[in-house]
Amino acid sequence: MNRPAPFEVLWDKAPGAPLPLPSALERIYGTLRIRDGPARPFVMANFASTVDGVVALKVPGESGGGEITGHDSRDRLLMGILRASADAVIVGAGTLRAVPRHLWTADHVFPGFHREFAALRSKLGKPPAPVNVIVTRTGELDPRLRIFSTGEVPVWVVTGKEGARTLSHVRFPPHVRIQTVPRHDRVRARDILKILGSLGMGHRYLLEGGPHLMGDFLAEHCLDELFLTVSPQVAGRLDGLPRPGLVTGEAFAPRRPLWGRLVGVRRGGDLLFLRYSFPTSQAEHLPAPPPHSPGTPTRKPGR
Ligand SMILES: NC(=O)c1ccc[n+]([C@@H]2O[C@H](COP(=O)([O-])OP(=O)(O)OC[C@H]3O[C@@H](n4cnc5c(N)ncnc54)[C@H](OP(=O)(O)O)[C@@H]3O)[C@@H](O)[C@H]2O)c1
Repeated sequence: MNRPAPFEVLWDKAPGAPLPLPSALERIYGTLRIRDGPARPFVMANFASTVDGVVALKVPGESGGGEITGHDSRDRLLMGILRASADAVIVGAGTLRAVPRHLWTADHVFPGFHREFAALRSKLGKPPAPVNVIVTRTGELDPRLRIFSTGEVPVWVVTGKEGARTLSHVRFPPHVRIQTVPRHDRVRARDILKILGSLGMGHRYLLEGGPHLMGDFLAEHCLDELFLTVSPQVAGRLDGLPRPGLVTGEAFAPRRPLWGRLVGVRRGGDLLFLRYSFPTSQAEHLPAPPPHSPGTPTRKPGR
């Protein structure tokens, strides 16, 4: 894949310290500020949507994010940078099933920047690859999938009671850890963050969907920021054949609408790269961090 031309920075009010991006990445993206610290988790999500709000075409073999953006190189670069800066990348089992050969690493989406991604992780004091966290209720996971069988990335499967029962019959290699939340079948977003926090890794997490898991994180006010790529494609929807948007399985408006705040806008060709922050209630995720921004998630912030 060719090296992309620089993003055009239209508006950037994102708070936080600049990431130590290697110059080849900074020349293209510009400065990337991320607001987090060692004492609290920071959860960012990265999604791509068509201009009519579709995030997955739901056509076998053509249901990944690439079909949404036309495999745009700037989108892949941003995905790579976010993955390279994360301690863990979290996805639901539905997303894994849609792209069964995928690995949630920076190299996987943009191998041409391997050296720069490795340098960034090294400067941040992180191991070569983020932990790939797969969330499942049923535990219906195929151990022959690349992510489980090759040992290229550390994998944690987070599941509840039902999934633990199913997975107890499956043999995974040692790089795959099964983390069970014993009381429930469905796993709460808070429980995922508690598990990640208690196992002594850094606290910067990237949520890459899909729409069901995104709904859970938003419903529990566990999402700090959303990086949303809007592609100029109109995908359309047939009657009776739903195509998901950013969230499935939760309805917020009108009773409990969630309002974000726009903190960044970049342009790359005909694509827009938007960045929103959301009020969170992160205090419960870790032993003693002060909440950075308790906010009132059900109220539209003043403009
Ligand atoms: N455009 C984009 O940026 C983007 C990003 C991500 C995904 N996608 C697309 O979205 C589609 C998948 O949509 P989806 O809504 O099915 O994705 P998903 O949220 O990844 O998957 C849903 C599945 O994840 C597990 N899960 C989710 N929340 C859970 C919870 N709280 N506790 C336990 N398990 C939980 C369950 O797995 P089990 O069935 O194993 O119980 C559930 O059936 C794919 O086509 C994918 O490519 C697009």
